[in-house]
Parts: sequence; C-alpha cells; structure tokens
Amino acid sequence: MNINRRSFLMSAGAALTLPVAARADAVPRSLTTRVAQAQLAPEPYPTTEIWGFDGQAPGPILYAKQGARFERRLLNDLHLPTSIHWHGIRIDNAMDGVSGLTQDPVEPGEDFDYAFNLPDAGTYWYHAHSNSYEQVARGLHGALIVTEPEAPDVDREEVLVLDDWRLDSNTAQIDSRFDAWHDLSHAGRLGNLITTNGVSGLTLSTLQHERIRLRLINAANARVFVLSLMGLEGWAMALDGMPLDRPARVESEVVLAPGQRVDLIVDVIAGEGDVSHLAYLSDSGEWWSQVAFPVTGVASSTRRPPPEPLPANPRQSVAGVESTRKAKLVMEGGAMGRLQSASYDGRRLSFREMAEQGQFWALNGTVGRTDTPLIEANLGETIRVEIQNKTAFPHAMHLHGMHFREVHEEGALGPLRDTLLVQRGETREVAFIADNLGDWLFHCHMLAHAASGMSTWLRVN
Ligand code: C2O
Ligand code: CU
Repeated sequence: MNINRRSFLMSAGAALTLPVAARADAVPRSLTTRVAQAQLAPEPYPTTEIWGFDGQAPGPILYAKQGARFERRLLNDLHLPTSIHWHGIRIDNAMDGVSGLTQDPVEPGEDFDYAFNLPDAGTYWYHAHSNSYEQVARGLHGALIVTEPEAPDVDREEVLVLDDWRLDSNTAQIDSRFDAWHDLSHAGRLGNLITTNGVSGLTLSTLQHERIRLRLINAANARVFVLSLMGLEGWAMALDGMPLDRPARVESEVVLAPGQRVDLIVDVIAGEGDVSHLAYLSDSGEWWSQVAFPVTGVASSTRRPPPEPLPANPRQSVAGVESTRKAKLVMEGGAMGRLQSASYDGRRLSFREMAEQGQFWALNGTVGRTDTPLIEANLGETIRVEIQNKTAFPHAMHLHGMHFREVHEEGALGPLRDTLLVQRGETREVAFIADNLGDWLFHCHMLAHAASGMSTWLRVN
C-alpha cells in the first residue's frame, strides 16, 4: 500500500515539473529500433536477443483515431539501416517506408519523421521494410490500431500479434541463417516457437458471456496460421482492417496468411472453471492453444444478440470492374517449380544460375523489382490483375497503398483487403481503384520469397 501511494505521489510530482503539453510540443513522439532481450521461449530457457521497436517484440501497440494525423520519429539505434512500413494504411507514398523505393534507408544513428493521415479505422501493423526477411523475423514489427469514432459494443479488446520464431533449441537464440536456400526456395522461413504478443502460450482470463474484440495480426515471416475457436462463438468483423458489410459467423477455421489481419468479435460460451481457446493447427496436425482464456467468473447470465457490423470506411467500393484493362501476374519458380530460366538484373539466367545468386522466384519471367513497373495506372483508374500461381507453394500477395477486392466468377466481388493468399496451382483475380499516387510495392509477404524474386511494383500517375 505504502509503495503504491509513494509512487503515485512521485509521478504526480513529475507531472508538475514537466507538463505533458509542453513536452509534446518540444519533441515528436518517437519509436526507437534497438537490440534487446526478450523471454520468448519459456523458462528455464534464457532470454533471446531480439531487435525491437523501443526494444520490444512486438513493438508497442500504437493507437490513433480515424481521421487523425499520425506522427512518429524513427530513431535508428541498430547497427544497420532500416525504415518503417505502415502495412495496410492508405498512406502518402512518401511515408510508405520502403527502403530503396519510397525513401532512403535510415542509417544507424539517424532518424526519419513519419507523418501521415489515417483515412481508415481498423487493425493495421508496422514493420521494418529494409531487409525485411531478417529484420521482421528478429522482431521489428508491432500493431497499429486505428479506432472508430464510435467503438463497437464489446466488453473489452485484445490485440493479438501472432508470430513464429526460428530459435536454436539449446541457446534459444535466433537462427541467423536467413539466406538458407531451403527456406528461400520452399515455403519460406518457418519458426519452431509460436508466440502471441511475444509470449508462448499466452493466457488471458475471461468471464462467461463476456464479449471480446480480438484483433489478430499475422506477423510471421512465412507461417500461414490456421486457427479455430474453442469455447468461443465468433464473427469475423473486418479483414485487413476493412469492415465486412455484414459480420460473418465463424463456422470453421480462420486462415491468416503472413501480413493479414482479422478482427473477430467473440462471445465466451464456456462455463466458469472451463478454458476457452484460440487454437492453431500445429505442424504435426494437432490443435494447440494459441491463446488460452480461462473462464474465472460470469459476466452475465444471458448471451447478447449477434454483433452489428462495424461502421464502413470511406472508399470501400471498387467500381468499373467489368470494363477495364487486365494485367497478368504469373508466379513461377521455387523448388519443384520447373522454372527453366528468368531475367535477373537484365540478364537471362538459368534456374541454377539464379540459385547461385540466392534468387528462386520470378514474376512474369523476371526476378525481383526492375525499373519497369508491372502496371502504370492513371489516378482513379480501375485495375484488374490476374494472379497465376504456377509454383508448388502458397504465396500471400500484398499490395501497398491500396486495398483490392477479389473478382470471383460471374463478377461477384470479395471483401476489401490488402493481402491475398494464393494457393499452389491457383489462379485468382483482384481489382482495385488506383486512387493513390506514387510507386507501390506488390510482393509476396512470405518475406524470404520477396527477398528471392517475388517482388514487383506499380506506378499510379
Ligand atoms: Cu507488410 Cu511490403 O509489407
Ligand atoms: Cu511467396
């Protein structure tokens, strides 16, 4: 009691000598990338050296209001260059954070001021976009939550950042073989420790009939999380930040590819003394607990009616899909992909020669990003892209700066999202309105794939 009272008095004293308003004026809020220690693997494993925003992995949850201006100064305390991409924000191109495309990398000891508007409410995230396949895997990512003017009627909210880590099983340190050919050419770098918010086996106590908004973010390099609700009844409310027209009751698995988000509203239907779970399908094919929700009491004796939809964001419609030009994106390469050759750095290389350069994938016959965009669009134009996956692996294709809708047969449009999982052998089609000026990356969010060929871009003039 005494201690609490004293620390309260001390913090009150600090506030008097340094008023909050004055401090905010003087220095913009910052995010510092630095090396730190985290207890990722359960004790008695030692802590793991990570790279984190403000020394945390995931980084601090950043909250902002829809329609607000967002400002953060990146301070780079790492020994190598970095930058921050604000994944899913329909952002000013200059603030998109892609090293080598929208900005120069921020050198060690340097800083960069990010400032942009937030047109959309929803669940977004931020992550390093320099050597992403290493930096994101080492922990440089966090949640960016943009709140609706009127929050939905829930009892509480939990932000859940799902990740996996490749740790040495003796030392619990991050495996530093990011260039391993096997990962680059197969399913990407899959981890051997699954965490939620940096904790393996996260436990959050709950009450029967409590209604919780779960904001799920897949920050893993390559793992496609297959999730299921146990002792919870849920509705998908939003995908990749964008509200669904109507909540979709969760009847089976929820599949979350790297980069993707889903907002769920769940009701705890397990009884007091039971444990509800968000479960994931493990590599061995069993359901394991991603997050355990022990039910420690009763919130109310009755269930609530199903949730109302979230308020729509602006510019959610994709019009003009019938009468517009179509681009094609053919994905080839990888192990068992039978790619013979592709163009890399202006030269035609055999698959073996590509491999020697650490490159394994081609988009439309070209490895990685060149000077020529995949598409050059006029501002406001509707664009369709047919994506053909001729490889033996799934790929999570992410478009920067704009959201798309999948075009189904008969022209029906799917939900608005920024990352689409395309399974092996599949052909899928997306459409979007090119309503954001600038140069935008379009790449696989299996980050080892992006680094070894699966990256292109488009330009909106
Ligand atoms: Cu979340 Cu280019 O990435
Ligand atoms: Cu991929």
